[in-house]
Amino acid sequence: MNRRDMILKALQAGAFISSVKPMQLFANEKKDALLTEMTGNPLRFPPVFTNGGTMSLATANVNVWPGQNTQVLAINGSYPGPSVIVEKGSVFTAHFSNQHNEPATIHWHGINAPELMDGHPKDAVPPGGNYTYTFPVLNRAGTYFYHSHADMLTAEHVYRGFAGFFIVTDPAEIPLGLPRGDFDVPLCIQDRRSANIPQFTYTAELNDVMYGYLGDAPLINGTPDAYFEVNRTLYRFRLLNGSNARVYKIALSDNRPFHIIGTDGGLKDAAVQAASFYLSPGERTDILVDFTPYTIGQNVTLKSQAFTAPGAGSYRQGTELNLLRFDVTGNTASGGIVPATLPPITYYNPADVKIVRNFTLTMSGSGMNMHRINGLTFVMDRIDWQTPLNSLEEWKILNASNNIHPMHSHSEQFQVYSRNGSTDLPPADKGWKDTVLIYPFETVRLLVRFTGYRGIFLFHCHNLEHEDDGMMLNFKITDPIGINENNSNVAEGYVLNQNYPNPFNPSTNIIFEIPKDGNISLKLYDQLGKEIYTMIDGFRRKGSYEVSINADLINGGLSSGEYFYKLSAGNVLISKKMIVVK
Ligand code: C2O
Ligand code: CU
Ligand code: CU
Repeated sequence: MNRRDMILKALQAGAFISSVKPMQLFANEKKDALLTEMTGNPLRFPPVFTNGGTMSLATANVNVWPGQNTQVLAINGSYPGPSVIVEKGSVFTAHFSNQHNEPATIHWHGINAPELMDGHPKDAVPPGGNYTYTFPVLNRAGTYFYHSHADMLTAEHVYRGFAGFFIVTDPAEIPLGLPRGDFDVPLCIQDRRSANIPQFTYTAELNDVMYGYLGDAPLINGTPDAYFEVNRTLYRFRLLNGSNARVYKIALSDNRPFHIIGTDGGLKDAAVQAASFYLSPGERTDILVDFTPYTIGQNVTLKSQAFTAPGAGSYRQGTELNLLRFDVTGNTASGGIVPATLPPITYYNPADVKIVRNFTLTMSGSGMNMHRINGLTFVMDRIDWQTPLNSLEEWKILNASNNIHPMHSHSEQFQVYSRNGSTDLPPADKGWKDTVLIYPFETVRLLVRFTGYRGIFLFHCHNLEHEDDGMMLNFKITDPIGINENNSNVAEGYVLNQNYPNPFNPSTNIIFEIPKDGNISLKLYDQLGKEIYTMIDGFRRKGSYEVSINADLINGGLSSGEYFYKLSAGNVLISKKMIVVK
């Protein structure tokens, strides 16, 4: 990169440094003095949290931009919050002290924790209150994070600084030979609005609720205009998108490829070469970058490339941004390698799916609650569906809106199975995931199985403005489905349970069981016996199934009244009544 290019790059990243006006720079032929002013700030690293210690939430003044105070919402005075680094199998404990004047919880994103440790907004800690989060670390080693999950305040809390890394380590991964220590670098990517520098002013207006609160000034680990000095060797970077709404298309400024080695839930089963990937809010991707080909004195910039999302209208995602400049300054070797193989991942088989759930993401109107899942917005104490332990489920998510939605599930990790029917997935999709980016008008199928904790968990959009707008549902993980329930609606081993909830509006669920492989149908009829909707018609394996239906999406919307659903298989026909109440 020549000097002129370097100034332009620096300008893109640093145009908001108030003491230097871009126009002056272009006019000035003697750039050297200015160049030193434009070299930016060394990448910062939050302190490491001591397991068993206190996490105290309070406002604090931090020098985000040099020499200027930013009032942030900090954990233990730090923005980003202190990094949790814990070993798989250990017990994590944090004593949360809420010294802020609003209710708050800490959610451990991607971490499999018991219901009451998950930081659900129903378990909010009031101002002045305390709560001890403690749970065994069951997750695979990987890059996770924590953040506020307060009811309708998550977006503001996170924007103001309440988020940090939660990194799970595993000594079993040491023999893989990945770069470690100083060569294993977490990078939390966030965006803030340059117009408000030095403050993290959060005033979400209707457009912000619609698109998300997007900024134009990237902060890496809270560092504006950041640079990081690297050696000519292999590094591991753990990228976390801690932004409220911005999607990044991560690449190097010279388009040199790197290796993707990890997704939300830890290492992939193979290192995959790529030159770019998308990282949406809440997602993590671990990559290996080799700086050996560069010479000392060179630099290369981690950036977000310009993009247009398929199917999307003219909204504000896709701006080109410089994120972090790597200055190549030394020859120290990390000793790390790109492993030829990584431990295998067992992929779920769609033939084992027992329960299919459909989710439709919509946007309507321009007021509160415009973002919806199956026509619903979040109600704190309403359970939107029940998921039995141990049954493999397929979650088929249709984004029927003109906006990007990174969909996130609490509790255990899932696998992305297909996008628009194609199982040929980008490398950042393949592996264990808890957040998946869904483009406008795309259908993404996930396979998910919960095997651990029962209780109430969340499924929501991780565009935090959408989440706070109510694009979030509660689900309850319940006992496994028993095949031998005592139920009068049994014939030759076929069981058709009463739908729940019932009466309902607009969604309900039907559980049924079939004693052997074969063709079955499950259909809906009106009071006159006219067939109005087919839920299932075809071959199914022996087992228990659950189907959810949405009255609003059947025949343009079912009106109030009684309907019948019938399970048939060969000579068996079982019928039950359901009631729609509008
Ligand atoms: Cu990272 Cu419920 O969220
Ligand atoms: Cu989460
Ligand atoms: Cu969304």
